[in-house]
Amino acid sequence: MGEEELEQEQEQVVNPWEVSAKDGGKIDYDKLIDKFGCQRLDQSLIDRVHRLTGSPPHVFLRRGVFFAHRDFNEILDAYEGGKKFYLYTGRGPSSQSLHLGHLIPFMFTKYLQEAFKVPLVIQLTDDEKCMWKNLSVEESKRLARENARDIIACGFDITRTFIFQDFEYVGGSFYNNMVKVEKCVTYNKVVGIFGFSGEDHIGKVSFPAVQAVPSFPSSFPHLFSGKDDLRCLIPCAIDQDPYFRMTRDVAPRIGYHKPSLIESSFFPALQGETGKMSASDPNSAIYVTDSAKEIKNKINKHAFSGGQDSLEKHRKYGANLEVDIPIKYLNFFLEDDDELEHIKKEYAAGRVLTGEVKKRLAEVLTELVERHRLARSAVTDEMVDAFMAVRPLPNMFD
Ligand code: TRP
Repeated sequence: MGEEELEQEQEQVVNPWEVSAKDGGKIDYDKLIDKFGCQRLDQSLIDRVHRLTGSPPHVFLRRGVFFAHRDFNEILDAYEGGKKFYLYTGRGPSSQSLHLGHLIPFMFTKYLQEAFKVPLVIQLTDDEKCMWKNLSVEESKRLARENARDIIACGFDITRTFIFQDFEYVGGSFYNNMVKVEKCVTYNKVVGIFGFSGEDHIGKVSFPAVQAVPSFPSSFPHLFSGKDDLRCLIPCAIDQDPYFRMTRDVAPRIGYHKPSLIESSFFPALQGETGKMSASDPNSAIYVTDSAKEIKNKINKHAFSGGQDSLEKHRKYGANLEVDIPIKYLNFFLEDDDELEHIKKEYAAGRVLTGEVKKRLAEVLTELVERHRLARSAVTDEMVDAFMAVRPLPNMFD
């Protein structure tokens, strides 16, 4: 291997298909912001959300889980001037059950929908997973509906939410927009953004247009007919940024606003913060279907600890919170700011032990997973149909 290749191999990689840190270290989010050219979400924007909506900022905002954006300020400017917007997010249905990392954008989107009182479209890219994961068309479609149940269980408001799966919805105005986008993007351009090669099939090469066009209101004539001027805000994990860089590049050329983005960091694997939780390694992730016992065992066995390896040393030096996974997870899901601060202080000082932090984490996650399980079991097939029906949402801005 030449020196140049070696260097490349050690770089961190973040794209829709791969997230890995440099040399087994942590993802460098500052570097990512620079490389992608997005903006940091600072306190003044968070304060502005608070002021404009009157709702206290979500934990994911307060704790920096959503840490980057593109033109989020423009959405807020318009909103302040009395102009509403719509939300767009999505999921590639590649597995039957979701893990905690998958819930993060949906939990956050639900908060945004409630705080701003705006409509939301959710794209299930069954076509994407059929092409990338080599699933059959039928199986991808089935998974999309299964995942829709988990998404609905996050508590979305049916009067403001339209969920669609590409295999059923793509066509009509949506397809018109896809072709407009496809005409604006050269093969060289997608190769530059996504790294496709001559060996990749043409489905992959044209897919980015499918994920791009929900950013344009005219792709949903039953919702936004005559509202071509409506702005779009996309909450997503930052690995989806390449799709929307492309979308933002094309938008003004076909007469639309560029969508704005609000982007999250990744939910780390139990083993440590080198990548994101992966659905393909069951021990790296906590699933929404895990039992209390499985959660406890996974945390005890696999959660990377920043505690010292002997009690004496721990009492003397305290834990290294920078690498401690239980603390990272509590940072996402323990809502009580005072309790979190207390745990962090005591743990860093060596007065609290890893076992105690893990125990608290198991409680917090068990409660979350239990709540999700209950909510999911209440979602009937008819409710899935209702969320996915192509219908107007007459009170979506009220
Ligand atoms: N490509 C995404 C995935 O694999 C799914 C997706 C489609 C998406 N549209 C989106 C994610 C918009 C965030 C925002 O999960």
